[in-house]
Amino acid sequence: MENIAELSIAVEPLTSDITIADVGDLFLQPAYDRFLSLPVVRDGEPLGVISRYHVQRILMGRYGRELQGAKAVKHFMNNSPLLVSVDRPVEEASHHITRNIAFPITEDFIITDGGNYHGVGFVINLLRGLEDKLITKNKSLAQSFSQLQASQSQLVQSEKMASLGQMVAGVAHEINTPLGYVHNNVEMARAAYDQLATLNEKYEQLISMLQSPDLDERAMQTQFSEIQEMREEFSNTFQHDEMRGLFSDTLYGLGQISDIVSNLKNFSRLDQAMVSNIDLNQCVDSTLVIANNLIKHKVEVIRDLGVLPKVRCAPSQINQVLLNLITNAVHAIEDRGRIMISTFSDGQFVHIIIRDSGKGIPAENLSKIFDPFFTTKPIGEGTGLGLSITFKIIRDHQGYIRVKSRVGKGTAFCVSLPIAEQP
Ligand SMILES: Nc1ncnc2c1ncn2[C@@H]1O[C@H](COP(=O)(O)OP(=O)(O)OP(=O)(O)O)[C@@H](O)[C@H]1O
Ligand SMILES: [Mg+2]
Repeated sequence: MENIAELSIAVEPLTSDITIADVGDLFLQPAYDRFLSLPVVRDGEPLGVISRYHVQRILMGRYGRELQGAKAVKHFMNNSPLLVSVDRPVEEASHHITRNIAFPITEDFIITDGGNYHGVGFVINLLRGLEDKLITKNKSLAQSFSQLQASQSQLVQSEKMASLGQMVAGVAHEINTPLGYVHNNVEMARAAYDQLATLNEKYEQLISMLQSPDLDERAMQTQFSEIQEMREEFSNTFQHDEMRGLFSDTLYGLGQISDIVSNLKNFSRLDQAMVSNIDLNQCVDSTLVIANNLIKHKVEVIRDLGVLPKVRCAPSQINQVLLNLITNAVHAIEDRGRIMISTFSDGQFVHIIIRDSGKGIPAENLSKIFDPFFTTKPIGEGTGLGLSITFKIIRDHQGYIRVKSRVGKGTAFCVSLPIAEQP
């Protein structure tokens, strides 16, 4: 150490073999010493390392002046080192240090405790502290994010189930009407068949009477008039035209039922991920079938559907969007009213406008209607999730939704979805 003044001190290039990721580990290993030490070389040859504290001691000791050109210590020591209070949060301390530390860094920083000297702090420790904190924070953020995602998809699912639940009641009613007359018609056909079968029996008896060797004329006469009576009764009860109509009505009713069932299947398909090129007019029509029971007694629906290019979408999700908007529109109409659904394309997007003649949305609510749980409906009637889920589905399809409303006049929602790119 006596010859320290003759030795040159070279700062090892710290970046050569140390990556940021290594810093944490180095801190715990003996190699860490190198980090806070300076290699001592003579004629370009390494002699060993000297700790930074040692150098500092020397600087402050008798060789210090010589190394620094015999200047007083105050000239090369930092007169006002940075002060960091021990109870400062690590991020705040780091901010303070990185903002105020002077380059080249001659020392790290001094930690104070209530204004008294507490110790020396090192930027590397601080960075490591920050890094540890960031890692923990990141972990907990990632955890909350995945929890949030899970509960969001649960919410979407439960809202879908709720809106489906509402619709099931309506659909049951829709099926009930054709089912009612199909049932009636079948009952009628059975009654006709019973009469025809009896008539047929009477004819068979008449034939065997005619074929019998001892022909009983009186009995045959009675049989004949009974048949005559039955035939008259039959044609009075079941006219031919009516019977034909009965069968075609029955087939029509069955067709209606199978329509509703296939729309329902299409509507509630659990193919959330399935994406195909769809004509949105089909979605409009199939949603109107499903919502018919809700609509038919109070709302006149006017469809103005243009010719549309295909849209790449998950049809069951778009049906859910349309059902939410149509249901809201019906709910906004207090007594009787109109819903107008128009579709058109501008070459880039397909637009669906659902306009109602309902009570409208006050300006102060317009910015809130897409928030989850915002509802003006009585407790138990609305969850306030319909529009927030609608918004999410449209955003997932790279589309957008706009709303315009006038209190007392009505509301219009416009859903715009990008058209499918040509293959
Ligand atoms: N067409 C509309 N006319 C008037 N108000 C509307 C219309 N659509 C939505 N709103 C308002 O926006 C609110 C939020 O709608 P949203 O569909 O998110 O929930 P909700 O209908 O109240 O409940 P949910 O859909 O879960 O049954 C409604 O409560 C209503 O105040
Ligand atoms: Mg709603």
